[in-house]
Amino acid sequence: MWASWLLWPLMAVCAADSFRDQAERIMRDKPVIDGHNDLPWQLLSLFNNRLQDPKANLTTLANTHTNIPKLRAGFVGGQFWSAYTPCDTQNKDAVRRTLEQMDVIHRMCQAYPETFLCVTNSTGIRQAFQEGKVASLIGVEGGHSIDSSLGVLRAFYHLGMRYLTLTHSCNTPWADNWLVDKGDDKAQSHGLSPFGKRVVKEMNRLGVIIDLAHVSVATMKTALQLSKAPVIFSHSSAYSLCANRRNVPDDVLLLVKQTESLVMVNFYNDYVSCQKEAKLLQVADHLDYIKKVAGAGAVGFGGDFDGVSRLPEGLEDVSKYPDLIAELLRRNWTEAEVRGALADNLLRVFEAVEEASNHMQTPEEEPIPLDKLGSSCRTQYGYSEASSFHCPWRALLASLTALIFSLCLL
Ligand SMILES: *[C@@H]1O[C@H](CO)[C@@H](O)[C@H](O)[C@H]1NC(C)=O
Ligand SMILES: *[C@@H]1O[C@H](CO)[C@@H](O)[C@H](O)[C@H]1NC(C)=O
Ligand SMILES: *[C@@H]1O[C@H](CO)[C@@H](O)[C@H](O)[C@H]1NC(C)=O
Ligand SMILES: [Zn+2]
Repeated sequence: MWASWLLWPLMAVCAADSFRDQAERIMRDKPVIDGHNDLPWQLLSLFNNRLQDPKANLTTLANTHTNIPKLRAGFVGGQFWSAYTPCDTQNKDAVRRTLEQMDVIHRMCQAYPETFLCVTNSTGIRQAFQEGKVASLIGVEGGHSIDSSLGVLRAFYHLGMRYLTLTHSCNTPWADNWLVDKGDDKAQSHGLSPFGKRVVKEMNRLGVIIDLAHVSVATMKTALQLSKAPVIFSHSSAYSLCANRRNVPDDVLLLVKQTESLVMVNFYNDYVSCQKEAKLLQVADHLDYIKKVAGAGAVGFGGDFDGVSRLPEGLEDVSKYPDLIAELLRRNWTEAEVRGALADNLLRVFEAVEEASNHMQTPEEEPIPLDKLGSSCRTQYGYSEASSFHCPWRALLASLTALIFSLCLL
């Protein structure tokens, strides 16, 4: 009799292990492509982007969610590294700081060529898979990074940006962010302004994925309607399971389904359980839910590792993906559905974005109107109506100088 007592837990353990084994078998062939990782922000915060600092060695880096051994253990085969600069750089040094974060991603690939392969297209991702390297792509998180300039948008594309999140947690002069829905920010563009629509068109033309994490629902809907290619939510979860405005509501999930777009689920406890604590099972609930509402083709992973302070029990760092995959298998996801969530769905979207791009088409040229450019003291070269009303102090200074000058002439 005691033998059967022993056998039961043993059998349970074996079943659990077989899902984990199956997950690893699948992931050896089809590793995960994650939509959002903030390791570059950690490199800035901890080392001021000095990769040669012995403590910044990515093989031994401690106290971060991400390092090379953890990426290997987690079967991470593709990563959109976030080139992020906070909203307080808007109208200040946002462009410079974004360039520096893009540079540190390039230097990661250069310093660890055995691990990272910087790529800019879907073919490159497949090549990295074959070489057993982490396909490394750049996602720019927040429209403030382009400083309302189509020229900067294009230059970022040339430097490897393959998604742009239209806003971070602040409005830009041309797109509203999620805090508008929360009631913390005032609606400004009510979605996208005419210039914001030109940004989306230009992203389509270039082949930059439109990322709708962090934007308001009105921005989501306008962009989904306007984009000629599918879009992504690089790190957002389901609003119906956790009513946080960073998450995607059901009516938008239906548009995701219609447009064959993609929601890459965020693991941050506050977006998973709406509480301080969360569990791996609750992340699986979000994946199940998005699959139910938008279809298995709409599901992906955007862990937000190294960008958040609290992660679910069982998903503490990037090494834990196989445990989440095992849970999906336990919930009867088919192997094809799992492969979709791991990589095929993102590859499908990326290929559609590449397909829809057209570099022969004339670039968008019409600049943002001067009076929409925010209140900081930029120069106004090129604007014919270059009045000085944006920088009243400068106008004042100019007339004072003129006055003093004419007085001196007297
Ligand atoms: C990181 O440390 C390992 C040994 O732990 C060493 O082999 C490697 O060269 C170091 N890499 C860099 C970029 O410093
Ligand atoms: C993909 O990117 C590589 C460089 O990483 C480039 O050589 C190749 O031509 C690109 N492929 C396509 C189809 O654009
Ligand atoms: C998975 O499928 C099995 C066999 O069809 C069934 O017994 C089980 O209840 C299903 N589990 C879930 C979580 O749907
Ligand atoms: Zn974010």
